[in-house]
Amino acid sequence: MSNQERLKRAAAEKALELVQDGMLLGLGSGSTAKYFTEGVGRLVASGMKLRCVPSSRATAELAAGLGIPIVQELLGAIDLAVDGADEVDPNLNLIKGRGGALFREKIVAAASKRFVVVVDESKLVKQLGVGVLPVEVSPFLWRTTAERLIALGSSLTVRGGEEAPFITDNGNLILDLTFEAGIDNPVDLAAAIKVTTGVVEHGLFVEMTDTCIVAGPTGPRTLGRSAVAARKPGPDGGQGPKGRH
Ligand code: A5P
Repeated sequence: MSNQERLKRAAAEKALELVQDGMLLGLGSGSTAKYFTEGVGRLVASGMKLRCVPSSRATAELAAGLGIPIVQELLGAIDLAVDGADEVDPNLNLIKGRGGALFREKIVAAASKRFVVVVDESKLVKQLGVGVLPVEVSPFLWRTTAERLIALGSSLTVRGGEEAPFITDNGNLILDLTFEAGIDNPVDLAAAIKVTTGVVEHGLFVEMTDTCIVAGPTGPRTLGRSAVAARKPGPDGGQGPKGRH
């Protein structure tokens, strides 16, 4: 196992300490979140009563194989969602979706009382936009959607190429946007992309992260977001699903 894999696993296993008997868990996607799902499988095997909402087909298959009960319909909030990220900025805003699962990941994060991100320290950036920003779009007239996104200041490529594009779990395309100078204002950009006709969802997760567990050579450390005020009250009047996407 490479050093980076060890760090991913360390971050995910630290998040397992937050799991309590009876919880409904959101399970993320990607190579870091996979370690969390495997750990949840061990907890279930040891007798803990847990249920989960997987954020991709791949995670659903992994969870089912580990014997973790899967919830298909959601009434109320997810107690705890844990997922990886591609980039994390100092405000714990994220870029996600380089694995292609951003749409369901965002629904799961938005439906959770607590959204915990697990990363190795290579994912920390000063400013988002070091790499591409994935945007899931409908395949219908996608070129017109792409033109609208280019008008927001990006260049872009179709994930997988136009000949054999990558198709998401939801039957859509991913456009990978590049912002040459990085992303100055993730809040405004997220809002602008969100209202672009043809866009299904984008990979900016703004003001959604409650806690980020970062694994480095000295072990995992926990970063918290102070501006939890952005969160809407939940159905029980307590901490509820996130307001900003
Ligand atoms: C999946 O589409 C992504 O959002 C992943 O959560 C993200 O790409 C992080 O993946 P890794 O943990 O594999 O780096």
